[in-house]
Formats: sequence, C-alpha cells, structure tokens
Amino acid sequence: MTGTAPVSPASGNPILEVENLSIHIRHAYGDTPVVSGLSFSVVEGENLGIVGESGCGKTLTGLAVIGLLPRLVEASGSIRWKGQDVLDLSPAERRALMGREIGMVYQDPLMSLNPGMTVKAQMRQALRLDGDHKGGRMYELLELVHLPNPRAIAAAYPFQLSGGQRQRVLIAMALARRPSILIGDEPTTALDETVQAQIVELLRSLQAELSFTTILITHNLALVKELCERTMVMYAGQLVEAAQTRELIRRPRHPYAAGLLGAIISLEGGERPALSIDGVVPSPLEFSPGCRFVERCANAGEPCGDIPPPLEPVGSRHDLACYFPVQGRPAARSGR
Ligand SMILES: Nc1ncnc2c1ncn2[C@@H]1O[C@H](COP(=O)(O)OP(=O)(O)OP(=O)(O)O)[C@@H](O)[C@H]1O
Ligand SMILES: [Mg+2]
Repeated sequence: MTGTAPVSPASGNPILEVENLSIHIRHAYGDTPVVSGLSFSVVEGENLGIVGESGCGKTLTGLAVIGLLPRLVEASGSIRWKGQDVLDLSPAERRALMGREIGMVYQDPLMSLNPGMTVKAQMRQALRLDGDHKGGRMYELLELVHLPNPRAIAAAYPFQLSGGQRQRVLIAMALARRPSILIGDEPTTALDETVQAQIVELLRSLQAELSFTTILITHNLALVKELCERTMVMYAGQLVEAAQTRELIRRPRHPYAAGLLGAIISLEGGERPALSIDGVVPSPLEFSPGCRFVERCANAGEPCGDIPPPLEPVGSRHDLACYFPVQGRPAARSGR
C-alpha cells in the first residue's frame, strides 16, 4: 500500500483529516517506520473504530492525531483539526487546541488518575475551577456518567474506587470541557466483562445524549460493533480495510480483517482455506516491501510480497488494500 488515497469520505463536516501520516521511531542507527501512508477522515458526529492486533500502530496513531507522540517518535504527513494542521503548531498552540477539542480516555484508569489527589481535586483541575467555585458542574458530570452519590465519589481517592467507577470518573473528566471529539484507547480492556458491558452502555448513552464524535481504538471487535458505525482495520502500521462496521462484520474482504473477525469463509471451489492468521505481527524491522500481511496470508500470490496493494474503493464507503480478498475474487488492481 503506497498510496495516499483517503478513505472514502463521509458526507458532513470533516473535523479530523489525516493525510499520508507516517510515524517513525528515531534510533542511533536510523529510523524505524511504524505507521506508513495512513489517510482517513472523521466527520462531525461520526463514531470511528480503529482495530488491529497488538503492535499495529493504533496507539501511536491516536497519539499523533492529538499531537502527543513520545520522545524520539516522529510524525510526517498532515493532520488537520477543523482545517488547522497540528504538525505545524507550536507545542503551546497544540496543547490549547487539544484542550479545547479533544477528550481522551485511556486503558488504565488507575494510571491516568493521580493516586495522591481526591477525585474532586482532579476534576476541579480538569474543569479549571478556582478554589471558591462550588463545583456544581462537577457533580453534574459525575451524575452524567451514572455514578450514584457523586459527593462521596468526589471525596474519594482513586484507590478507594472500583475499576468501573474510576473509568467513569475518567470519562467525566474527558467530557469536562465539552470536547467535540472523544478518543478512547482501549477504554474497557482493563475491566472485567460485566463492567466492560456497563461502560459500553454508558458510552452509548453519552453518544446519544451529547452527540459527540468518537474515535475508539481497540482490539475488541465487540466494542466497535456496539459503538462505531465505521471501522478501520490496521495491520503492521497500515490501513488494510475500512468500511461501515456492519458491512465489515458481515463481509470482511481483507484476509486479515476476516481472520480478526474469526469469519471463516471458504473460497469458491474450497481448495485453500480462506484465511490464515497464525503467527504474529512482524516487527517494523521485518516489514515486507509488498503487503505486510503476506507471511501470514493464505491467499497471497504474485505480486503480494513485492508490490504493496493500493488502498482502493470496493464498494460504498468501503476501501480495501488487497490483491486477493476473501471469497476468491481478486480486488481491482490499479494499473494492471
Ligand atoms: N515510545 C515508543 N518508543 C519506541 N517504540 C514504540 C513506542 N511506542 C510504540 N512503539 C512501537 O511502535 C509500534 C506500534 O505501537 P503501538 O503502541 O501504536 O501499537 P498498538 O496497535 O497500540 O498495540 P496495542 O494493541 O498493544 O496497544 C510497535 O512496534 C511498538 O513497539
Ligand atoms: Mg495500543
């Protein structure tokens, strides 16, 4: 996949436009590419899921779009929030923009909360309340995330709360400044199954009530199925398929997406298995010059190992980078 073709745009006002985003890690001996040629956009009110196995570059993509990449990790390309390019901003301008526009929820609420401060003190910071302020909005927010007895919760330290309560507090803090977009990076992974379901339900009701835009980064397909109308599948730092979530689940085309979904679809004629997903994501140092999934793919043939498949539309708002999609029909091959 070499192209910079954007994922089929949705109708509506784009609030985030990412074009040809590449992320690399600087080492003394050179650069390692971890995300390459990623293009996508998110329109107002949309809920986008980003899925892929561990190490596919989901978190770094999320950090790049909010302008918070760790040291020695660099991004190139363009990332525009409501038309403003994040990569061109000074750190202070970037922080101001991000503080206004984006709420972020991470995997581990205990790590994201300050253990030495009460919920109240942390929420006051998030809300930028001064010492005299009564904090009515704080209690409102704690109620919004369905925490019973907000006053008791506000007075508690993080360790005095359950994992689910802590995640609700973090969600309340992320929503404190009325962001136009909420980004969740594995927001339920650290929780047990019942609590996960409750947080999913909460996010769903908040989406309906506040109609904010969401980007949800996860390897949990059940989560995108519940919360995202569109899903991008990343593999080894590249976008391999993007579609309406319902369509992706019903009919994944990329062998990796199909494998991830556990959808075992026989090839016409049934001579080969439709997919193979044994093995692990290659290290960035071992990326194939062609399709990065080639080593694990049962469908691979010529020229998969040599020429990266371009990302091309294969249906309505459905993009695919694969020469031999599942169900045996080769995808359109550009220039061939
Ligand atoms: N701070 C960093 N310094 C060096 N390499 C990093 C750093 N963060 C991530 N990487 C590397 O970049 C690649 C992508 O990592 P990333 O954390 O974005 O993956 P991910 O898809 O979020 O995985 P997971 O599902 O495990 O969270 C990996 O190869 C990882 O080892
Ligand atoms: Mg991650």
